[in-house]
Amino acid sequence: MGRVAGKKAFITGAAQGLGAAFARRLAAEGAKVSLADVNAGGAEAVAAEINQAHGEGTAFAFPLDVTQEAQWIFALEEADAAMGGISVLVNNAGISRGGDIESLSLEDWKLVMSVNVDSVFLGAKHALKYLRQNQPGSIINISSIAGLIAAHNSPSYNASKAAVWLLSKGIALHCAKQGLDVRSNSIHPTFIDTPILDPLRQRFGKEAAEAKLARQVPLGRIGEPDDIANAVLYLASDESRFMTGAELKLDGGISAM
Ligand SMILES: NC(=O)c1ccc[n+]([C@@H]2O[C@H](COP(=O)([O-])OP(=O)(O)OC[C@H]3O[C@@H](n4cnc5c(N)ncnc54)[C@H](O)[C@@H]3O)[C@@H](O)[C@H]2O)c1
Repeated sequence: MGRVAGKKAFITGAAQGLGAAFARRLAAEGAKVSLADVNAGGAEAVAAEINQAHGEGTAFAFPLDVTQEAQWIFALEEADAAMGGISVLVNNAGISRGGDIESLSLEDWKLVMSVNVDSVFLGAKHALKYLRQNQPGSIINISSIAGLIAAHNSPSYNASKAAVWLLSKGIALHCAKQGLDVRSNSIHPTFIDTPILDPLRQRFGKEAAEAKLARQVPLGRIGEPDDIANAVLYLASDESRFMTGAELKLDGGISAM
């Protein structure tokens, strides 16, 4: 039996990077997984790979723009039907836009807030109907260490990820007050080796960019997707049944400084 056998997880932004790693890890530990992404072809490819490894009917893919309420309602309904329920929601889809407080455009500010924050609001709002029917449930929101520690050049990313941090706690308290066995927690990674780092790699070159980031991490390296997938696995499983409204910092020691 896997650590999440019988769980049914809906994961956003699962076409690549962390979301794809979460889907692979949860499926390897016995869960059914629904991969939702605005990149529908990418989500389908990862789902097909998971089904090849763990058997047809393990993974499903759905097109979803996490900023669109009607798409959320439809995708959750489809995933519920495909998996026979939803007991885990991983709000992972997220983006970043460069620019400091003077140079960042209002358009980019709104885009980042919408993809990073509206997504968590809409996901939790509409998934609770299904999580309520499939208790114990778990909502896992992917914030960032940048939601707890600011930088001079990422106002929209900082503010959006800080919003995810506190929103996760509000959702946790709502569920507890309702008497639901549905938990809500946030995860705060530092730099992880995914395509989100590509703009930096293009600017400085791969090795120089990664070395520049690694110098900021006490453990001396950037993280691997599985470093975060292991935390998602823990929060998705009943091993974390007494943990709600909390944050897991997976930052190689950055926030200890
Ligand atoms: N990689 C890191 O260094 C790092 C660090 C801290 C936090 N995070 C957070 O982890 C999450 C995943 O990041 P990643 O590194 O895997 O990024 P990534 O860019 O590799 O993948 C993001 C995925 O989200 C999807 N996506 C983007 N906009 C979407 C939308 N509107 N609707 C649905 N899907 C959408 C993309 O298509 C892509 O598949 C993000 O929330 C990110 O902010 C990443």
